Amino acid sequence: MNLEEQAFAQEFIRLATDGDARGWHERNGGNLSYRLTAAEIEACTDCFYNTAPWNAIRTAVPVLGGSFFLLTGSGKCMRNVRFAPAENTGIIEINAAGNAYRLVWGLTDGKPTSELPTHLAVHALKCTGGKEGNRVIYHAHPAHLIALTFILPLDDALFTRELWEMDIENPIVFPEGIGIVPWVIPGSEAAAAATLEKMRSYRVVVWAHHGT
Ligand code: 13P
Ligand code: ZN
Repeated sequence: MNLEEQAFAQEFIRLATDGDARGWHERNGGNLSYRLTAAEIEACTDCFYNTAPWNAIRTAVPVLGGSFFLLTGSGKCMRNVRFAPAENTGIIEINAAGNAYRLVWGLTDGKPTSELPTHLAVHALKCTGGKEGNRVIYHAHPAHLIALTFILPLDDALFTRELWEMDIENPIVFPEGIGIVPWVIPGSEAAAAATLEKMRSYRVVVWAHHGT
């Protein structure tokens, strides 16, 4: 079976396609990563190459040592993921120490998303817990939400309250509220650190003037 035909890859493609259909991913905006299960790694091992160089992870993530992630590439567009998964997405392997990664599949002419520091930091935080923890980190650029960050105070409680009042589903979907991070340089270690702090309390974090 082609790697693209695996159920997890199909679900990844579906999320990328859904996000694009909602208009949340102008050009290459947004990125997505998924932590493979042990069974999925096993099923894909024959598709993996081991020739790519190792790249340093500046803020090591020891708890993710030995993990594999399917993720979107930097500068790649969500709308293209479904047409050419191996060009627009790739799988990275994290070394045992959690301080380096290498590509093992896909991204034939590219590299992982520039937001990798935030993805890895948040995966490291959320990977523990029931049912082997959370596996998906999704970054989108929803225009209306971004517009609200130019209008509302950048305060977790106030912002959450306005969202709860705007849609009755919202308090059901995120009863714990959402965290707001003031504007940060995209792709930076500082963005990862600020997001990590908010993710200790929330499942959804908004980067002011940028996206979720
Ligand atoms: P990438 O194309 O590197 O994933 O960057 C898109 C983005 O949304 C940065 O915040
Ligand atoms: Zn972004």
